[in-house]
Amino acid sequence: MSSVFPEYATEAARQVDHVQFFIFLVMAFWFIACNAVLVYFVFRYKRKGPDDKVSTVKGNHTLEVVWTVIPTILVLGIFYYGIKVWAGTRTMPDDKDAYVVDITGQKWSWSYRYPDGQTTDQDLYVPQGEVVKLRMNSLDVLHSFFIPEFRIKEDVVPSFYTYLWFKADRAGVYNIFCTEYCGNRHSQMLGKLHVLTPEEWAAFKAKDYFEVLTPLEHGKDLYVKKACVGCHTTDGSASIGPTFKGIIGRQETLTDGRTLTVDFDYIERSINKPDDEIVAGYPKGQMPAFEGQLTKQDIQDIYTFLETLK
Ligand code: CUA
Repeated sequence: MSSVFPEYATEAARQVDHVQFFIFLVMAFWFIACNAVLVYFVFRYKRKGPDDKVSTVKGNHTLEVVWTVIPTILVLGIFYYGIKVWAGTRTMPDDKDAYVVDITGQKWSWSYRYPDGQTTDQDLYVPQGEVVKLRMNSLDVLHSFFIPEFRIKEDVVPSFYTYLWFKADRAGVYNIFCTEYCGNRHSQMLGKLHVLTPEEWAAFKAKDYFEVLTPLEHGKDLYVKKACVGCHTTDGSASIGPTFKGIIGRQETLTDGRTLTVDFDYIERSINKPDDEIVAGYPKGQMPAFEGQLTKQDIQDIYTFLETLK
């Protein structure tokens, strides 16, 4: 099964696979059985000549009862087995019994806020062997949060919360996908789920897990994790937004006809309120406003990174 399905990493995922495999086996058995009988009948009841008459069958109560009762039992079995496992993954634990992480989806990135106020982007960090509850919300359009190795998935919707829960038994790194088409960079709305061992988790809580980055490394990291990379190239090629190659010091004309030289102040304003001063030729409403999400230091580090893109 491992070559057909993605690896499973939770007990719930194992159960989902078992339901799936059970249904598959039932279907496969009846598919083969029905077709075998069909082929047999084709030969057994082949018309032998113009005088070959078939007997007229009016009905058979025993047969009808059998072919009604057997499928009914099978379908009820599939329903019972399926709903039992489904209810297990869909019954949310109480907040007090779980480690609750807030997830925000936004074109085209994920961000996470942990109970102690710590935040991360794109990559989610959780403790191994603990019940984790995800409280999810979107800032713009419909997204969907999917962890294939855990077999869980839920829409992430603006204006109300949706939830998921899991208990990851094995430490490791797993995939996070957005699985609801949310615009032209939907396929890049990816992340990694890091299930940390108790030692790693202690380091994470002590804010000690990540290596300290230089301002340049941090700026580059934000460029990727805040999803700037989705719309702004660094090699001069065209994309949804202006390229970052040579951006600092560049003369730009804005949609309102003004010209300016790109400097730190303009970069900061453009990150916080992108729609206010758009470079001519680019449409409004493409970039999310990062006001309140990035500190002055973050923006300074991004600026340091941009300066290197000569
Ligand atoms: Cu977000 Cu697709």
